[in-house]
Amino acid sequence: MCGIVGYSGPQNAVDILLEGLENLEYRGYDSAGISVFAGNGITTVKAEGRLKCLREKLNTSPVSGHCGIAHTRWATHGEPSDRNAHPHGTERVMLVHNGIIENYLELRSRLTAEGYVFKTQTDTETAALLLDSLYQGDPLAAIREMIRQIEGAYALAILFADRPGEVYGVRKDNPLIAALGEGENFIASDIAAVLSHTKRFFTLEEGEIAVASRCGITVYSPEGAPVEKKVHTATWDVEQARKDGYPHFMLKEIFEQPKALRDTIHPRLKDGLPSFEYDGIPECLFKGRGRIHIVACGTAMYAGLVGRDLIETLARIPVEVQIASEFRYRDPILSKDDLVVIISQSGETADSLAVLRLAKQRGVPTLGVVNVAGSTIAREADYVIYTHAGPEIAVASTKAYSVQVSVMYLLAFAMARSARTLGEEEIRAKVEELLQTVEKLPRVLEQNNAIASIAGRFQESESIFFLGRGLDWALSQEGALKLKEISYIHCEAYAAGELKHGTISLITNGVPVVAVATQEHLLGKMVSNIKEVKARGAWVLLLAQEGSPIDEEVYDQAIRLPKAPDLFTPLLAVAALQLLAYHTSVCRGCDVDKPRNLAKSVTVE
Ligand code: G6P
Repeated sequence: MCGIVGYSGPQNAVDILLEGLENLEYRGYDSAGISVFAGNGITTVKAEGRLKCLREKLNTSPVSGHCGIAHTRWATHGEPSDRNAHPHGTERVMLVHNGIIENYLELRSRLTAEGYVFKTQTDTETAALLLDSLYQGDPLAAIREMIRQIEGAYALAILFADRPGEVYGVRKDNPLIAALGEGENFIASDIAAVLSHTKRFFTLEEGEIAVASRCGITVYSPEGAPVEKKVHTATWDVEQARKDGYPHFMLKEIFEQPKALRDTIHPRLKDGLPSFEYDGIPECLFKGRGRIHIVACGTAMYAGLVGRDLIETLARIPVEVQIASEFRYRDPILSKDDLVVIISQSGETADSLAVLRLAKQRGVPTLGVVNVAGSTIAREADYVIYTHAGPEIAVASTKAYSVQVSVMYLLAFAMARSARTLGEEEIRAKVEELLQTVEKLPRVLEQNNAIASIAGRFQESESIFFLGRGLDWALSQEGALKLKEISYIHCEAYAAGELKHGTISLITNGVPVVAVATQEHLLGKMVSNIKEVKARGAWVLLLAQEGSPIDEEVYDQAIRLPKAPDLFTPLLAVAALQLLAYHTSVCRGCDVDKPRNLAKSVTVE
């Protein structure tokens, strides 16, 4: 969701900024723009649509300079258009913005009364014109006053026309980093933007103002004092963020899952038992917890659903899984002996972050399960477990989900150990089963071509239903989300037993049903439900373990998974559902990695 890059250095800023925006494309956007110090002032070029539209404009009327800012916009206020694309501003000040200025209407009428004329419908233009009205030659003073007056969430990169060669950055509730190169420096919404130039970066804290120039980056505290920042080195490299011969990032990321799982699980094992020493988490964090609240959005929330079943089954601790945007406004019942677990790939999702802060305010311990190092949730949570998926570029989450689920297994084992619901030897055996399941995953991925041909059957469908029981239901919800978000086919997941209470009326001749039936202990019940839809004409795709005794007459086609204990099948089944979604999207000619209207990192409510 929206991307920011700023550059100051000896190279042509236009090339560097466009490359940076390309690296941020994965976040989702609908227009883009660039402002560069060129000649006597700031030149701005903006274009609706993909970056190639901006490139075409820049090819027709070339611009060059050594310092500038650029942005990919994901529309919130005002439709996607050339005009509404960032940067916004005046001859004196130009800026790009991620987030939402909440009091923009009030500011807009005040500025209009002062004589300012607004050219766009965006909230961002309000911040730009406000800054212009406050600027009297001291950029830091003007920025400080602007952030005092604006409410909402923002990451801003700013140019002042009378300060050529300088990019200013400031943020609140939206991430912004500053990156240090050799004789060149950067401001960006995430390190992926500039990885090919440098891996050295630091994160700005709220209200800090960074000034990047060719010579270095100076940071000032909200009170105006210079601040020494601790520089981090990114562990991801540029190669990891490339397609590597795969036609899409999504397919590459699906195939990376065995490695991502091993990388995430192994550091958390000691003598065959789960241990979070590696993350600096004491065992007592899991002792005596009254209730676990797992809170997240989207795919991460579905990983939490698997976690609930695992923790409740193994550790017998009650677990609630909640959607962050609902939880935060419910005045949730939280007690100090609870634990709030926030799952987030990006570590920046606005609603998940708000829940983390709410839990902290109420004095409840918080644990983040996060993929992006140094992200806000990772920094603010009391404890953090990093998933080691590496960069996930496709908007639809795949490997990040699997590693989140793997952390759920480890947490369930650790909690079962603390609660003494399982003995050490039983836990060791479970850890072994988890490791063996991961090694079976390549056998699911080998079915890629077969799954591609099944996807052909789905491409004309209007609606597809997913059914499952227990862990299969949790998984069905993720499978339905994956398919709908990238193929634009209406998909819904139902607890199979709930079918008779309404949904079955939607099942008519030829309607596709994906029956997820990997839970052998629920097989009899599940087969009855499959028969019910089959009797009403459904076209059934069965997902079950190899050798599961299911009568061939109840399904039309099947994907068989290597045998595994019921508790561990989600790690195998999800890969099959991801491939199904991927190939359906390809068959329909959709933009697999960048589905319409979706963003990778949702930093607004
Ligand atoms: C967006 C992404 C999803 C993701 C969700 C939560 O909707 O498109 O893939 O699951 O946000 O994001 P997070 O970064 O918090 O896991």
